[in-house]
Amino acid sequence: MIRLDLAADSPATVKADAVVIGIHSVADEDAIVLAAGAESVDKALGGTLARTLRQLGATGSAGEVTKLASLGATTAPVVATVGLGAEPDEDEIELDVLRRAAGAVVRALKGTGHAAVALPYASLDALGAVAEGAQLGGYEFAAYKTPPPNGQKEPLERLTLLTADKAAKAEIERANTVAEAVLRARDWVNVPGNLLRPPALAEAMSEAVSGSGAKVEVLDEKALRAGGYGGILAVGEGSEAPPRLVRVTYAPRGAKKHVALVGKGITFDTGGISIKPLAGMGKMKSDMAGAAAVVNTIVAAALLKLKVKITAYAPLAENMLSGSAYRPGDVVTMYGGKTVEIINTDAEGRMVLGDAIARAAEDDPDYLVETSTLTGGQVVALGNRTSGVMGSEEFRTRVVETGDRVGENMWPMPLPEDVRSGMDSPIADVSQTNNAGERAGHMLQGGAFLAEYVPEGLDWAHIDIAGPSYHSGGAYGYVVAGGTGVPVRTLLALLTDIATES
Ligand code: BES
Ligand code: ZN
Ligand code: ZN
Repeated sequence: MIRLDLAADSPATVKADAVVIGIHSVADEDAIVLAAGAESVDKALGGTLARTLRQLGATGSAGEVTKLASLGATTAPVVATVGLGAEPDEDEIELDVLRRAAGAVVRALKGTGHAAVALPYASLDALGAVAEGAQLGGYEFAAYKTPPPNGQKEPLERLTLLTADKAAKAEIERANTVAEAVLRARDWVNVPGNLLRPPALAEAMSEAVSGSGAKVEVLDEKALRAGGYGGILAVGEGSEAPPRLVRVTYAPRGAKKHVALVGKGITFDTGGISIKPLAGMGKMKSDMAGAAAVVNTIVAAALLKLKVKITAYAPLAENMLSGSAYRPGDVVTMYGGKTVEIINTDAEGRMVLGDAIARAAEDDPDYLVETSTLTGGQVVALGNRTSGVMGSEEFRTRVVETGDRVGENMWPMPLPEDVRSGMDSPIADVSQTNNAGERAGHMLQGGAFLAEYVPEGLDWAHIDIAGPSYHSGGAYGYVVAGGTGVPVRTLLALLTDIATES
């Protein structure tokens, strides 16, 4: 991570390799305006900055970075401007605009060493957003190239946030804790399937939890068998790397509410006997993004000492095909005793999740949030950047609003009765997918199946992150190629909110 620190220095005279300021676009006009914080730099440059930037083609559009040589006018040899879009009507600029701008500018300053930043962060939340965006946007996954390619610029090392606010230090620490959780989730997603099978991922999870204040317990295949976790075992059966169920608990004194978190942890999804086509299969190393998110969320919540009890479940399995793999037509007895008719072994996520949700419900939580790379249908319906959220109506809406607030876009989805009735099975309690194999309401079938394991009356939400958990393509804002860490920041914001309930 970048070393973040604070100083009350003027942007014009701060000692750094570069100083960063913000600029706004002006609607329908061929002009830009400097954002708050840029005043001293403009003065040092003789009041010519806005004009010069226009001449250089800067528009102030969100995330646009322009670099200028200050030629001695400011102490920092480079002035970097970042676009923040149009000036907001309200007092404060949207937090995610700041987050995205910080992410973009940190990447543009690769090879710079030390930068200082003076963006329009009037509130601590805004300052925290800049810190978060910088850490997330500056992330790079250490690739497996030996030796490392030369000529590659070093990531920014140090970022000084210019502010006189004494309370900023605690806010930077909070932002660092959140970012660390997001980045660890990204790391786990990015590690290929051969290097992070269920036992190894359970180890990595235990390590991440240790020292956080939360406690971890790992059920191995023997314990899973003894406990009757038929869904996790069925999926794990086809692999030589046995399945695991990781359970993490955090129970601070004085907590009023209890939240259960459940995340899908398929370390690699071949599809099993119902094998996937080759195109895109490599991406299925990311099929444990939900598990990575919930475990890193509880770690951060513990480090932040949130006053809410949390129990997180990460069912881990590798969906392989072999002589011992489960097959279409099988009947599987899930944790708790309900039976499932297998239609398609590629719908493995709901099998491990049904077990984990049923188990989580036994802890008697006030809320249950489950997240998973569950269906390709989510991507078809909502694209790569908007998660689909199903569940009990009011709570589902709350989760969507929380996601939108932190820049992890979500959209509410229904659980229609006809989708559920299409999953009636002639031989088991429920069919794993539509019994005729119909793909209508594909994403919703996943939600309807999971709902079977949620007790009546429990507030719950299922967040399908098949698209948003992984980014293929060039970096934008604070999102870089590979794992995104979605929905860690939504879950943390939600838990922070629930911690204030009585
Ligand atoms: N892991 C996949 C879903 C997925 C697809 C995640 C694309 C990320 C990107 C899941 O296990 C799966 O294969 N789902 C099937 C379900 C179907 C067989 C009912 C799907 O979406 O096709
Ligand atoms: Zn699958
Ligand atoms: Zn899957």
